[in-house]
Amino acid sequence: MKTMLVANWKMNPVTLSDAYALFDATRKSAEKNKNLSVVVAPPTLFINALRTRYKGKKVQFGAQHARGEEGGSHTGDISLRQVKGIGCQYVIIGHAERRALGETDDEVRAKVSAALMLGLIPIVCIGEKTRGSHGEHFDVVRAQLKSVFMDVPTPKVNKVIVAYEPVWAIGAPAPMQPRDMHEMSIFIRKVITECYETELKVPRVIPTVLYGGAVDSTNVHEMQTLGEVAGFLVGRASTTPDSIRVLIQALT
Ligand code: PGA
Repeated sequence: MKTMLVANWKMNPVTLSDAYALFDATRKSAEKNKNLSVVVAPPTLFINALRTRYKGKKVQFGAQHARGEEGGSHTGDISLRQVKGIGCQYVIIGHAERRALGETDDEVRAKVSAALMLGLIPIVCIGEKTRGSHGEHFDVVRAQLKSVFMDVPTPKVNKVIVAYEPVWAIGAPAPMQPRDMHEMSIFIRKVITECYETELKVPRVIPTVLYGGAVDSTNVHEMQTLGEVAGFLVGRASTTPDSIRVLIQALT
């Protein structure tokens, strides 16, 4: 299976010409790695220009955020339908930075359902804010997963990508320990299977699990080999041509 890299540019870069340069660096590095699938999530403002300019297939596009409603009085917002219409295949849902602005588990669940209905692949972010010594973070993650998958029908389970991002590692100097991620990956798969155990047919393949939080070229290889993850959701290290180049090289 290919390793997945989701480049979450967040509110970077400042200009469209810098966005072109960053996209080109990402694309060029990505094309050298056959075992990599890449999703770029630029600021919404740049998606259409980047997408219409790009004629290849290696890189796919995602939005960083969107609302589930068709339309309405939501100043400054965009809808999942618009995201789909502009040619995105993916949408990030429930990123910690959106949850910090008030996005709730219920909203995340509704958006995941709406995205699946539209044929968009949701990349759902989950993760605890802090980590205690008694394993409380497993309870947080279990509750988030149960909420996300409550409305996902069995045939759609494999269409959901789970990005585990412990909030304390986002923007931090270092990621979590790969061995702890290994344990968390197994836990995530177990909880998702539990969500469907009352059904006659438990989904055979379960969602792709990504890791996010302080991933860069110095730590990605170790996480890739020891973390039991299918790929990465990367913030800072995806936002300059040099940092994305070395990151993708380290994955190779
Ligand atoms: P970071 O952000 O890679 O800059 O830590 C990750 C994320 O928020 O998705």
